Amino acid sequence: MSLLDAAAAVRLNAHAPYSGFKVGAALRSVEGREHRGCNVENIAYPEGTCAEAGAIAAMVAAGDSRIAEVAVIADSPAPVPPCGGCRQKLAEFADGDVVVTLATTDGATLRMTVAELLPGAFNADHMDRV
Ligand code: THU
Repeated sequence: MSLLDAAAAVRLNAHAPYSGFKVGAALRSVEGREHRGCNVENIAYPEGTCAEAGAIAAMVAAGDSRIAEVAVIADSPAPVPPCGGCRQKLAEFADGDVVVTLATTDGATLRMTVAELLPGAFNADHMDRV
């Protein structure tokens, strides 16, 4: 199964009763394993979590270390872009040249790198004076 198919499959498990917007994310780690996540909303709205965050949490919980590739999918008019917070979360575990495939359920895709998604990312170098 492709990473995009895996993202589409896990999307069906999303808990999105408040927005009605289901998102699926799948990533391949540098260790070669696949990890999946979907958005999980909460009646206390800010407590909801994004699909990308779920996939990253699954990777870390499984003991893998870095992201090699990512796919994200939703039923949106244009390939769904990760939110700002998820761009920072991806940058924590992925090099800038890692490809993120953004997709719609009707087949449109857009390939972007982590560096393109988060130019000028805050990183450890910015804390060199600490
Ligand atoms: N959402 C994601 O899971 N990932 C994204 O990349 C964009 C937004 C979720 C959060 C919320 O549950 C719903 O989509 C609407 O914002």
